[in-house]
Amino acid sequence: MEKIIVRGGRKLQGEVDISVAKNAVLPIIVATILNPTEIILRKVPMLEDVTVLINLLRELNCEVKFSPITGDLKINTSNLKEIEGNNELIRKMRASFLVMGPMLARFGRCKISMPGGCNIGSRPVDLHLKGFKALGIDSEIGYGYVEAKIKNLHGNRIYLDFPSVGATENIMMTSVFAPGVTIIENAAEEPEIWDLARFLNSMGAKIEGAGYGRITIHGVSELKQPEPFTPIFDRIEAGTFMVAAGITNSKITINGVNEEHLMPTIEKLKECGVYCKMDGEKMIVDGTGEKRPVDIKTMPYPGFPTDMQAQMMALLSITKGASVITETVFENRFMHVGELGRMGANIKIDGRVAIVEGVNNLTGCQVKATDLRAGAAMILAGLVANGQTEIGEIYHIDRGYTNIEDKFRKLGAEIYRTYR
Ligand code: EPU
Repeated sequence: MEKIIVRGGRKLQGEVDISVAKNAVLPIIVATILNPTEIILRKVPMLEDVTVLINLLRELNCEVKFSPITGDLKINTSNLKEIEGNNELIRKMRASFLVMGPMLARFGRCKISMPGGCNIGSRPVDLHLKGFKALGIDSEIGYGYVEAKIKNLHGNRIYLDFPSVGATENIMMTSVFAPGVTIIENAAEEPEIWDLARFLNSMGAKIEGAGYGRITIHGVSELKQPEPFTPIFDRIEAGTFMVAAGITNSKITINGVNEEHLMPTIEKLKECGVYCKMDGEKMIVDGTGEKRPVDIKTMPYPGFPTDMQAQMMALLSITKGASVITETVFENRFMHVGELGRMGANIKIDGRVAIVEGVNNLTGCQVKATDLRAGAAMILAGLVANGQTEIGEIYHIDRGYTNIEDKFRKLGAEIYRTYR
């Protein structure tokens, strides 16, 4: 079983390069289904979730060439076939529900396994289906599948009860060809939504307002071959390294940061005593000062990201004083509390609220990555814990971070992977 071993106590120094964002690249890969021509994506990170999507496209008869060294990904979906039955790869990854919209646009129908819940929550798809219905697509859930068929595709006004990232992306992709105008109200505003629209527009789609609460899509009848496209940097990976500087009292440089995308994390870390300075796309993070407890409430963008909650909790668990963390996006995203507790953290949970009482030090032990970001939090805690931390179930970490142990080792951390 693969594990990541961290020996705590080293200060970090030097520079780290941030990869392209997982949550931008996944929907963009899926969106290539809309356009049967050769499409080139640049700097695609070698992530487990990317591999699953590549394998899915190959299984569906698409031509896919990936060079993990340059990150060039060439996709041609001209020979795409429909998804059949109980597809293992679809069930493997939640983000694969995003294929529904583009598949509907290509074949007029699509049947895939109903995505299950996961470690962080039940994760229903009602908002995706509500959007489809407004666009003239009927859907039905039964026998573990979601089956949808286009009845009368047309633009419409869609109000999302919650600004769901996935539902916004699925509706945006489906409505690219919907005759007339589609307006998504209360749309998710995450930078990854803006980036997906940038990609779709580069192929000739007509999308305005992405990145804000109201997105307008004018249906087009066809798309053209786009120029090679490079998605945005990963704001959550950058945030994870910012916390790493804070938790180890270090000063590091992070290459590949869009300051605006990281604003909520930058502001919260500043409140906590971790400061940063931008120099173009480089961020110099100074985590050497005294830390203060802070209160955090996760919210849809531009609120504090749920994907940074676990990492911040690791930092606050050794910050003197009491911090209150409220998770409002996912109903079960505190699995890492138990693991941090094993390392000596003092955290109590009451429903969606965690009260973190900072302790003087953490101690290394065997823990597991209960989800992707929880895994990152375990590495961060391991960097300051006394002794050795052994992190299991690291396939969660590999879903969303490229060569994380190499990046930390380059910064001077004592961290490696074992394969026994
Ligand atoms: N929700 C519904 N109904 C729906 C869709 C969502 O009730 O039809 C609820 C979910 O159950 C959840 C909340 O809305 O409680 C937020 O879900 P959302 O749809 O916004 O999230 P997602 O699209 O499933 C993406 C990221 C997540 C990230 C969230 C929130 C991708 C591939 N995943 O998930 O990333 O946490 O947005 O920002 O883009 C991660 O990277 O670690 C990760 C989990």
